Amino acid sequence: MMVSRFSLLALSLALLQPLVAGLVVPRYFKPHPFTRRSLSVQKVQEELGAIVSSGSTIFGPEDPRFAEATERHSTHAVPIIEVVVVPAIESDVSVIVEYCNDNSIDFMAVNRAHARTYTVGAFDGLMIDLGQLLGIEMQPDEKSAWFQGGTYDGLVMDYLWERGFVATTGSCDCVGMMGPGLGGGHGRHEGLYGLISDNLLNLNVVLANGSAIRVNETSHADLFWGMKGAGHNFGIVTSFELKIHPREVDVWHYHNYIWTEDKLEQLFEEANKLHADGNTPVNMALNVATFVLNQSISETEVVIFWTFAYRGPAEEAEAILAPFNQIEAAYDESGDVPYPGISDIQGTSLDSANCALNHEWVMSTSGVKVYNVTATREVYQLYQQYLDRYPQLSNSYVAHEGYSNAAVRSFRAEDSAFPFREYNHLLAFGAEVPPGFRDNLTSIARKLADDVSALWNAGQPGVPPSNYVNYATGFEPLPSIYGYEPWRLERLVGLKNRYDPHNRFRFYNPIVQNNGS
Ligand SMILES: Cc1cc2nc3c(=O)[nH]c(=O)nc-3n(C[C@H](O)[C@H](O)[C@H](O)COP(=O)(O)OP(=O)(O)OC[C@H]3O[C@@H](n4cnc5c(N)ncnc54)[C@H](O)[C@@H]3O)c2cc1C
Ligand SMILES: *[C@@H]1O[C@H](CO)[C@@H](O)[C@H](O)[C@H]1NC(C)=O
Ligand SMILES: *[C@@H]1O[C@H](CO)[C@@H](O)[C@H](O)[C@H]1NC(C)=O
Ligand SMILES: *[C@@H]1O[C@H](CO)[C@@H](O)[C@H](O)[C@H]1NC(C)=O
Ligand SMILES: *[C@@H]1O[C@H](CO)[C@@H](O)[C@H](O)[C@H]1NC(C)=O
Ligand SMILES: *[C@@H]1O[C@H](CO)[C@@H](O)[C@H](O)[C@H]1NC(C)=O
Repeated sequence: MMVSRFSLLALSLALLQPLVAGLVVPRYFKPHPFTRRSLSVQKVQEELGAIVSSGSTIFGPEDPRFAEATERHSTHAVPIIEVVVVPAIESDVSVIVEYCNDNSIDFMAVNRAHARTYTVGAFDGLMIDLGQLLGIEMQPDEKSAWFQGGTYDGLVMDYLWERGFVATTGSCDCVGMMGPGLGGGHGRHEGLYGLISDNLLNLNVVLANGSAIRVNETSHADLFWGMKGAGHNFGIVTSFELKIHPREVDVWHYHNYIWTEDKLEQLFEEANKLHADGNTPVNMALNVATFVLNQSISETEVVIFWTFAYRGPAEEAEAILAPFNQIEAAYDESGDVPYPGISDIQGTSLDSANCALNHEWVMSTSGVKVYNVTATREVYQLYQQYLDRYPQLSNSYVAHEGYSNAAVRSFRAEDSAFPFREYNHLLAFGAEVPPGFRDNLTSIARKLADDVSALWNAGQPGVPPSNYVNYATGFEPLPSIYGYEPWRLERLVGLKNRYDPHNRFRFYNPIVQNNGS
């Protein structure tokens, strides 16, 4: 495990003294003064197995199912899983949480295991695998649907499209709905409808003490505010009601290009014109520019792979792309496909490299308002230098995401815990450290990751750094994750006091970073 618990704790103490002060729970207040450290998998199977519903499964590391159940997108900071419990029905989740509390076992809900943050690496306990909670139920008025907590983007996109609808989801088929959704959730429909969290109507939540509650605009409204942007800190969503929208179009147009580096300045200037500071044509749903190596173009020189997805047919899309078509590409391909096919084209389908599991990813991020062309060139150069020097890092990326985001900006920032609506672009860095190079290259990759985000942040002097909670590593200052207005963190800490006073939910970019006891 690369992230030591001690370093995380030290970091949190340094950052959070004033916030945590009110939350330290005196020993005599601890709900369960005893602990059963020697609890075996077999004991959990016997005791918990007797009280959860019959379709649930419980297994430990010895079980053949364990390896697959605990696979993760990134192996950089992995939670220690002592036992996996797969609830069959929603009410099992309460039973599991109560059992954990009675036995002083830490628990963690896993949706699709694509968490990027390193803070999950501080976990040691029981994993609640939501993989059996996959139900989807459209409501009779066709304005919303209920989804269970284990649903994920590809499943939801396919299910709704076939029935003539779409919803706000993330863009990667493999990623969960609630993993992203509790922190906002960016996706190809955000220009029209906003984030996943902006479209939530109801949440069925199991709190830290095992109580199951309904959270919405009128029921636990304070928590509803917090769960729309900082939700990983407060409970386990067993199901949620989300708005759905008629799909309106039959095809999406795509155009993928590869450009050589000499076009970088021209391209990013055009991109800034296209996005016009948050005024992207609303159907130009998502374009992503990635610095990568592509052996068929060059063995050593990083190229710019740029993929555009447009909600509608070629004619409309290509009119908008005309300036890009004038910049000579080394390669390009385009076409029209039904919406679920767009994932394949943009490299976000279940079998894409992006969705591959069990690689060591060293990551960083930054949100920016516009692309700073100078800073973008500096990042390119630094990245190229590292790849020249450490060719083993060649399966890495620098990604520049350009969503059309009019609707995201139209929601009032104070109405939810999602703090950064004015940052138009998410920038993401990932270095893959190949097996066998962990000891040699991880710290080098880490330095590169930090330097890249520092260049991004230096590219917008006067603009406070933002780190989208779902892209953050957890080492960034808390205000850069949860918002700079002091009332935001105060309000979130207040919610923690009320709904999770023992800090059971502290493994995903925690607002409060003490160890809960
Ligand atoms: C390949 C890839 C693509 C991505 N694409 C996007 C994207 O398009 N848009 C975007 O916004 N983000 C995206 N992200 C970031 C993504 O939002 C986070 O990594 C997110 O945590 C992944 O969710 P998950 O369900 O797959 O992961 P998990 O690791 O299963 O979940 C992350 C955390 O969420 C919490 N959690 C999960 N389910 C529940 C639940 N039902 N109730 C309560 N808490 C829960 C748990 O604390 C858990 O540790 C992407 C990440 C990767 C690696
Ligand atoms: C909010 O939850 C309450 C309590 O369950 C319920 O009565 C109400 O109908 C819900 N509101 C919405 C909009 O669903
Ligand atoms: C590399 O470029 C070729 C075109 O030269 C393209 O067909 C291929 O899809 C690219 N590979 C990746 C991984 O993008
Ligand atoms: C890692 O570094 C050590 C010490 O410098 C070296 O002996 C070893 O060969 C390296 N391993 C790899 C896989 O590069
Ligand atoms: C762009 O980035 C450079 C390098 O960090 C910086 O000097 C410059 O001020 C930035 N430009 C703008 C307009 O912010
Ligand atoms: C569980 O926690 C909630 C929120 O703190 C509280 O309202 C409720 O009474 C608690 N339930 C039990 C059974 O203690």
